[in-house]
Amino acid sequence: MKIIYAKDYDSMSRKAANIISAQVILKPNSVLGLATGSSPIGIYKQLIEWYEKGDLDFSACHTVNLDEYVGLDKTNDQSYAYFMYHNFFKDININMENTNVPNGTNTDAAGECARYNKVIQDLGGIDIQLLGIGHNGHIGFNEPGIAFEKETHCVELTQKTIDANTRFFNSKEEVPTHAYTMGIKNIMNAKKILLVACGAEKAEILYRMVTGKIEPSVPASILQLHNDVTIVADEAALTVINEKAPYLIERLPSCNKK
Ligand code: GLP
Repeated sequence: MKIIYAKDYDSMSRKAANIISAQVILKPNSVLGLATGSSPIGIYKQLIEWYEKGDLDFSACHTVNLDEYVGLDKTNDQSYAYFMYHNFFKDININMENTNVPNGTNTDAAGECARYNKVIQDLGGIDIQLLGIGHNGHIGFNEPGIAFEKETHCVELTQKTIDANTRFFNSKEEVPTHAYTMGIKNIMNAKKILLVACGAEKAEILYRMVTGKIEPSVPASILQLHNDVTIVADEAALTVINEKAPYLIERLPSCNKK
């Protein structure tokens, strides 16, 4: 695992966007695995800026998102399909037919999960998977459990995740209790993984993910077994690693500035 230090959120976003940008330049028809949450928003903004400058072309790219709330359709402003369109897709030259998010309105859970696994398979797999990390170590919506779920599945969200997501809804009652999410095998099959984390509240879980035991109670810990993982994290999220295992952190020369 490569852990890259970034001073703050903007710097983290820029460094991570550089990695995605290199992927798209080197392989214009890349399959990009995308994520939602507050952590990747700055990355999408940066990529849009470089697209507008003429440095990036997404016309041949395909995208697959990690997850979606069950019960929300793409016109609901809290759905991940809505998030992706408004934070990224509408401002770049991606063909919307090349974008994929699980269909939260499909009430046939088994059918939807099988369909989504096939989408990923038919695309030939994911070239780079962007991930955030939940406070409890979840990736996508793979919540802590007693086993690693392999492929796309319907998950019951933990109270901790529901609480963390309540800020986006008008009331607690509106927060969905279930989601469709790629499984650990789908994520681990990605050729490259790029995980971003920011803020002090991610510091402990990031340390556990990187140095702790590989166990389903910290789903992100499985990433220790992937051979191409890059973590870009801000100073606050790196405090515990910096305290207990500072030698794991790479500080690129540009860190003198940002
Ligand atoms: C949600 C998403 C995850 C994301 C997590 C953290 O649970 N399903 O993919 O990583 O939130 O979000 P944030 O980046 O806002 O902390």
